[in-house]
Amino acid sequence: MQGRRLATFVMAALFGAVGALFLGQGSARAAGNAVSQLDEQCLGCHSAEGFEKDLANGEKLSLHVDGAAFAKSVHSKIGCAVCHGSISLENHPPSKTKISSIRDYSLAMTKVCSSCHGDVVKLYEGSIHASLVREGKFGPVCTDCHSPHAVMAKAAYDAASGTPCSKCHDPIFKAYADSVHGQAGLSCSNCHRAHDVSAAAKGDQLKNACLECHQDALTAHQTWLPNAAQHFDAVSCPACHSPTAKRKVDLRLYDNAAQQRVAEKAGVPQFENRARLADVKGTGLDAMALRSLLQGFNREGVDNQVTLRGRLEVTTGAEAHRLARSTAAIRDCAKCHQHGADAFQSVTVSIVGPDGRPVRYGANPDVLNSVISVDSVSGFYAIGGTRIKLLDWLLALAVLGGIGGPLGHMTVRWLFKRYAKRISGKEDS
Ligand code: HEC
Ligand code: HEC
Ligand code: HEC
Ligand code: HEC
Ligand code: HEC
Ligand code: HEC
Ligand code: HEC
Ligand code: HEC
Ligand code: HEC
Repeated sequence: MQGRRLATFVMAALFGAVGALFLGQGSARAAGNAVSQLDEQCLGCHSAEGFEKDLANGEKLSLHVDGAAFAKSVHSKIGCAVCHGSISLENHPPSKTKISSIRDYSLAMTKVCSSCHGDVVKLYEGSIHASLVREGKFGPVCTDCHSPHAVMAKAAYDAASGTPCSKCHDPIFKAYADSVHGQAGLSCSNCHRAHDVSAAAKGDQLKNACLECHQDALTAHQTWLPNAAQHFDAVSCPACHSPTAKRKVDLRLYDNAAQQRVAEKAGVPQFENRARLADVKGTGLDAMALRSLLQGFNREGVDNQVTLRGRLEVTTGAEAHRLARSTAAIRDCAKCHQHGADAFQSVTVSIVGPDGRPVRYGANPDVLNSVISVDSVSGFYAIGGTRIKLLDWLLALAVLGGIGGPLGHMTVRWLFKRYAKRISGKEDS
């Protein structure tokens, strides 16, 4: 089968006219973009539809290259031979390359990009996608996002179709398409960037991206939301702006000395093991278990160096992208600051995993109310939502009194501050 195909193509190359025929309807010449003579010869064989090669592992590597698309691409001037340096008409075919799988071929070939786009490669190397590849997992390389023979200029990436991200993140793209940003024609890379894509839970990069475009957001929230900056830290933007989403609390292990989230040390995954050991009943960490888990992490260093920082967020990636017009956003304080509020019924504890994505372990919602875990959960008392009854009352008062006016805020803030001091005073002793 393959032998016959090979023979056909050798013939084609010999008879240049036949080669030109293979360029077919959308011929590179017809498109008005010339490709070099040499490239025409390569395309004489490779523009044939259905031209493929059987690999030893059973896969079929397509050898078809769309000549017209190539002619229109940014690389038409470079020519085939620059990227395929080892191939020349004198020595080819047959192939001298050993190709064990389509993926391995991609991984090897994608290295050619770095000879001309070193700056982009450097950005990419720092991404979550590149760390997945380094770990031997599946993640996109250059040619997964840029079809190697049809690379278009930056401006051609189409927000409406989600290309190239939707290919692998389709559920998120579908949720995103109807959102305020999808409708406004923003692309995924407006928030995530194209090459140095980080894990979503890493640092404040995403929040900062929002605030770079919405520079007045903090001021606008301050007009009605007391401690707006604190809310921005402890509540993810989608938790209020994706109104139909389910919410939950993530308690993040935080290193107070290093001032950053605790990350799993390379090669020694301890978090899940320790969590499983602490979770004797297997029903999720309770307050005692949480405390012993933290003690485990603190034993390695200074006491109380590692604590927990709570953050209210949405439960799925798709929900994080279903941002609605702000008239639909959650404004009702009681959605969170009320005893037994929904958002506090689902709790996870997390650490930063080896590739930057969080590793999570389920916890019992009671940990938020428990005296035992209070020290560890310092700094996260979503008032009312958790254990502070007096604040329920203060809040009710504030809401009844109308917190729209500046005086209202100041009173609320003052009351809360005093109360917060009292609590921390108590806990210190
Ligand atoms: C006479 C037809 C013909 C011409 C002309 C031709 N190729 Fe090929 N090409 C083939 C065949 C057949 C294979 C599969 C070879 C095999 O499996 O031994 C192939 C395989 C390839 C592969 C797959 C990877 C590999 O090394 O096997 C690349 C890349 C390639 N050709 C690039 C080129 C380039 C670049 C040119 C122009 C310089 C070119 N080809 C000219 C027929 C041709
Ligand atoms: C900008 C660099 C670049 C140029 C220019 C280029 N190629 Fe490729 N080519 C690649 C890369 C990278 C791959 C590996 C494909 C992958 O990762 O899927 C590849 C793969 C191939 C393959 C194997 C089948 C496949 O599609 O994976 C063939 C055949 C091929 N190229 C032929 C050509 C021909 C013919 C030309 C000129 C018309 C050309 N290439 C121009 C980078 C290039
Ligand atoms: C996850 C998908 C993805 C991967 C992987 C990717 N790119 Fe891109 N790239 C894009 C998108 C999308 C754009 C369009 C510009 C934008 O949105 O910022 C782009 C733009 C570019 C540009 C032009 C604009 C610029 O930023 O300079 C170059 C050059 C480029 N990519 C090269 C590469 C190379 C080389 C690699 C491999 C190291 C690579 N890309 C990997 C998605 C990707
Ligand atoms: C031999 C050098 C060379 C190699 C190898 C190469 N490129 Fe390019 N690339 C260029 C040139 C030249 C341009 C056109 C720059 C321009 O028009 O400003 C370009 C443009 C691009 C663009 C569009 C840039 C923009 O600003 O819109 C992308 C995306 C891109 N290349 C991706 C890749 C990818 C992916 C690979 C590897 C498969 C690759 N390139 C390999 C030289 C190269
Ligand atoms: C308006 C800014 C914005 C845009 C545009 C955007 N995202 Fe996101 N994305 C976010 C935020 C914010 C989060 C994290 C939410 C959180 O902190 O819980 C996120 C999280 C993610 C995650 C991780 C989800 C998880 O399971 O944790 C992926 C994957 C992702 N985005 C892909 C995409 C893709 C693909 C697109 C384009 C279709 C896109 N994003 C467009 C802001 C954006
Ligand atoms: C070829 C497949 C592929 C493409 C294309 C792709 N990704 Fe990914 N991406 C992955 C895989 C696999 C993961 C790791 C598993 C996961 O989180 O979904 C990942 C992870 C992510 C994450 C981190 C998720 C987290 O949990 O924190 C973000 C953010 C992301 N991608 C955004 C993008 C954006 C933006 C684009 C387009 C510029 C894109 N991806 C294109 C495969 C892809
Ligand atoms: C506690 C819930 C809550 C949180 C957290 C929150 N928002 Fe809002 N946001 C709202 C509500 C409610 C409105 C509508 C206010 C109004 O109409 O007066 C709004 C309005 C907005 C608006 C439109 C008004 C404007 O001009 O600024 C933007 C943009 C916005 N928010 C962005 C953000 C960003 C970015 C974040 C995260 C850094 C965030 N929001 C966090 C509830 C919240
Ligand atoms: C690249 C700029 C950009 C980034 C980054 C961005 N936005 Fe937007 N945002 C816009 C644009 C443009 C609109 C649409 C404005 C319109 O249609 O009125 C918008 C609309 C909104 C609205 C609706 C406002 C209203 O008046 O109803 C909210 C809420 C919002 N964004 C929140 C966010 C959040 C949260 C993030 C980060 C996860 C974010 N934005 C990131 C540009 C951006
Ligand atoms: C989406 C849930 C949510 C909504 C809606 C919400 N909050 Fe909060 N609020 C929180 C969380 C979580 C914290 C952070 C608690 C912490 O870090 O200790 C917080 C903190 C506060 C604080 C600071 C308490 C302190 O410890 O200093 C005040 C005051 C407050 N909220 C009042 C309000 C008021 C008034 C409203 C309505 C206008 C409101 N919140 C709406 C979740 C919410």
